[in-house]
Amino acid sequence: MDDLRFRVPQFHEALASLPPTPTTFTADDESYWSAVRRLYAVSNQPVNLENGFWGTMAEPVKAMFHHWIDRVNHENTLLIRPHWPQLLQGLRRTVADALGCGEDEIELTRGASEAMQALIGGYNRLQPGDEVMYADLDYPAMRDAMQWLRVRRGAVPVEISIPEPATRQAVLDTYAQALRQHPRTRLVLLSHVCFGTGLVMPVREIGALAKAAGADVIVDAAHSWGQMDFSIADLDVPYAAFNLHKWIGAPLGCACLYVRRDALGAIDPFMGDQTYPADDIRSRVHVGTPNFAAWLTIPSALELHQRIGARQKALRLRKLRDAWVGPAREMAGIDIQTPDDPTMVAGISSFRLRGHESSQACKAIVATLRDVHGVHTVHRDGAAKGSVVRVTPAVTTSLEDIERLLTGLRALQGAPAALAT
Ligand SMILES: Cc1ncc(COP(=O)(O)O)c(C=O)c1O
Repeated sequence: MDDLRFRVPQFHEALASLPPTPTTFTADDESYWSAVRRLYAVSNQPVNLENGFWGTMAEPVKAMFHHWIDRVNHENTLLIRPHWPQLLQGLRRTVADALGCGEDEIELTRGASEAMQALIGGYNRLQPGDEVMYADLDYPAMRDAMQWLRVRRGAVPVEISIPEPATRQAVLDTYAQALRQHPRTRLVLLSHVCFGTGLVMPVREIGALAKAAGADVIVDAAHSWGQMDFSIADLDVPYAAFNLHKWIGAPLGCACLYVRRDALGAIDPFMGDQTYPADDIRSRVHVGTPNFAAWLTIPSALELHQRIGARQKALRLRKLRDAWVGPAREMAGIDIQTPDDPTMVAGISSFRLRGHESSQACKAIVATLRDVHGVHTVHRDGAAKGSVVRVTPAVTTSLEDIERLLTGLRALQGAPAALAT
């Protein structure tokens, strides 16, 4: 039971059939990336450029998931009752090793929301009147949780706007100034990859600014792990939440909570939970009965992710992003919200058609791209400067798919009045 990687021929043979990851020019090696694409079964009518909601599982990972669904149902509690503690320990160790932290600093959750809410709700170092800071680009449910700290702890929520167009320096200056203007800030919510525009935040530097100002940082890394190549040490923050069902390619229902070993005391046990001792991270979130089969598939999803290579995957996603952002920047009337600075963007980016910044207008753009041009994107609200259309390629995306998007953008730019309503 200790080895979670049971031999399932569809999984192991598919991985063996993948050519070795090239060590040079990996982002440009179309024959390698078409071999990767063949591991997935995705519909391309319309082409999916909305891979940010969750990640499509590769067929071999799906085979492992089916294997575990069969076992969980066939053996029922005979599998889980005696073996779950050991199995869960193995899963937590696997996830911790992949993130570069201790197994005692990780607990699995069903989504990043569950992990983030446990962290924000459980943070116990706030006095009435202390300020808690978040930004316009943070995920709506997390902004709500930060606002709710007024009710929960008597804290004063402070919302800041991230400058547009964003540069690394402008973002750092914004946080430095906001922390100066709000010296009672004790907690900062920070997205690693902003959900709407794809902007990557300089987490380590903002974390240092916050620490110097006497504030802790909770990082919403729902979108970054697997899209970017990094480890916990690179972030250097006490609290974070990660998804495995977005960019790692695990089944839906797989995520985790990270609490640095020395920072556990500032998070309360979840609703008084006594299932685990107070010095055990598992007391900080109570997930009840999880989808065992989904969680047991995590090692296989990570194995494929690592076989392709975290760095190579990040480079490929960036190349796919650049393949549309480069030409789109040259189109009059189209604004891109992320800079090309490699530290400030990964695979996701967004655009606005000038004069069409309302939520309704962005929905119309999405509908036109889908119905007229066969490309699926999504509108996202929240940015202070207006709604955006988010474009999210995946390793399943081809350069022909990107070309289809560009055809749609050129048509929109030429005749915005033709937008579907
Ligand atoms: C930045 C961010 N935070 C949190 C979430 C919520 O993640 P989940 O749906 O896995 O709970 C998302 C989902 O898209 C997100 O983009």
